[in-house]
Amino acid sequence: MAAYEYETHDYDVVVVGAGGAGLRATLGMAEQGLRTACVTKVFPTRSHTVAAQGGIAASLSNMGPDHWQWHMYDTIKGSDWLGDMDAMEYLAREAPKAVYELEHYGVPFSRNENGTIYQRPFGGHTTEFGEGPPVQRTCAAADRTGHAMLHTLYGQSLKHNAEFYIEYFATDLIMSEDGKCQGIVAWKLDDGTMHVFNAKMVVLATGGYGRAFFSATSAHTCTGDGNGMVARQGLPLQDMEFVQFHPTGVYGAGVLITEGARGEGGYLTNSEGERFMERYAPTYKDLASRDVVSRCMTMEIREGRGVGPEGDHIHLNLSHLPPETLALRLPGITESAKIFAGVDLTKEPIPVMPTVHYNMGGIPTNYMGEVLNPTKDNPDAIVPGLMAVGEAASASVHGANRLGSNSLIDLVVFGRAAAIKAGEIVDPKEANPTLNQASLDAAFDRFDGLRHANGNVPTAELRLEMQKTMQADAAVFRTDKTLAEGVVKMEAIAAKMDDLKVTDRSMVWNSDLMETLELSNLMPNAMATIVGAEARKESRGAHAHEDYPDRDDKNWRKHSLAVVDGPKVTLDYRPVHIEPMTSKADGGIDPKKIAPKKRVY
Ligand code: FUM
Repeated sequence: MAAYEYETHDYDVVVVGAGGAGLRATLGMAEQGLRTACVTKVFPTRSHTVAAQGGIAASLSNMGPDHWQWHMYDTIKGSDWLGDMDAMEYLAREAPKAVYELEHYGVPFSRNENGTIYQRPFGGHTTEFGEGPPVQRTCAAADRTGHAMLHTLYGQSLKHNAEFYIEYFATDLIMSEDGKCQGIVAWKLDDGTMHVFNAKMVVLATGGYGRAFFSATSAHTCTGDGNGMVARQGLPLQDMEFVQFHPTGVYGAGVLITEGARGEGGYLTNSEGERFMERYAPTYKDLASRDVVSRCMTMEIREGRGVGPEGDHIHLNLSHLPPETLALRLPGITESAKIFAGVDLTKEPIPVMPTVHYNMGGIPTNYMGEVLNPTKDNPDAIVPGLMAVGEAASASVHGANRLGSNSLIDLVVFGRAAAIKAGEIVDPKEANPTLNQASLDAAFDRFDGLRHANGNVPTAELRLEMQKTMQADAAVFRTDKTLAEGVVKMEAIAAKMDDLKVTDRSMVWNSDLMETLELSNLMPNAMATIVGAEARKESRGAHAHEDYPDRDDKNWRKHSLAVVDGPKVTLDYRPVHIEPMTSKADGGIDPKKIAPKKRVY
């Protein structure tokens, strides 16, 4: 083993990541008296959840009639029938409770005149099982909802004595010989010390991997670290081919302009000034599901109706909205439009284009956050001692496409669920496991190998090559040709991980090494994405395959599972859970309502 001294920490639970899901899990664990550590590479309130703008979905019925079953139906339809029914029922049923908990913890939601939480319309959220008008279901704190949630959850976690290890980079899982998770290894960035966390339960809440692409709304920290840690243990990643493009990233900068902008009455136009969404989605128009809107924008651009000197983007119009609405409901994007696009949105449209925003795929889990390692005999077999929540996980509630504002609710519902489950299965009186030395050695050896990497390819160069390839070949529209070429290119790129060059060998604030560790996490995510996409011969949700334009439920209503080993990806599949948690007789949804059908808005 590479010779590093390290400090050992013993906890009941170690949560990796301090975004919305990580903090909600940390808080829930600590509230129950479990000795809980939260290990995070950035200060908690700087986690990427801070960038979540528009809001959090829950059928509170504050603005008009709503029902958890309508929310469940919309989520199923949004997922293009790839989500697991039990998980989607759990999400929709628990959502109101989870939001009221946030309210009681102190999240400063925007308010209606009568004091209730303000809710706005968001794409794909409807009434009457998709037969009625759009619903106002998205609970908002102006357009800074994620920011408000993070601050509240961090404060509450501290109040309950959760312990935070801030600016510690988790490098690898420690696994027992028989496949149980025992803890993690972490590197403290500001003093270069190494740390081993020994725990009865590890919860990965490390977010998405948007930075595998060139243009993303995701922060530069979104490098799929937990997914990388899981992949290195030979465990599968699920449904990685489904990558969401948000319709309104600022052209050039990629910064998010919330869907709440369209929820408040904004609309998209092409170079002819036409509100083109009326042609494609006559009922819900600009509030169709975001995969649909992104595809329509791309079609307009391809057909020569894009705006700007190069005809390569679209306009988002908000100048017709009353200035009071902009100031009250959309202050954040008013600023973003000025800073990142140089436009005054009270007078001019914002130039926007579809931008990578969210990863539907991730670490497969059940709806209590337990990580799955499916076998032939048991597609729902769990990995003892390991949970995953939030964007890192695939529960699977978003299936092939996530609805806007279902991400924040996913974070808190499943962060909370993981804590409930851990409360049942973690015994604080039990001694922590003796760590598997071989696994520990492997983690330190890998760290040391990257620290002393002495090849020919600088990390930044290889990362850029990966990002450009993924952007070009795993795009909004995909074809057999682009995907096959993309796989070949990505295999060659991933193989260059063995030829990396790290120039800084120091241990303190070594950003060269940190970015290399991050790249070692991004790469398996990218490989699983492009190989999974190449294999899926249908169109479903965010996977729009031009050679197979229709959804094929007979052959492809199944979750993909990708095991990644360097440039090599082995695919397998597991069945979608098609049964909800509750039967109709016991108050559950009518199975006829959720039978697969054509997805139109
Ligand atoms: O548009 C937005 O505010 C993003 C929300 C989401 O991705 O859920």
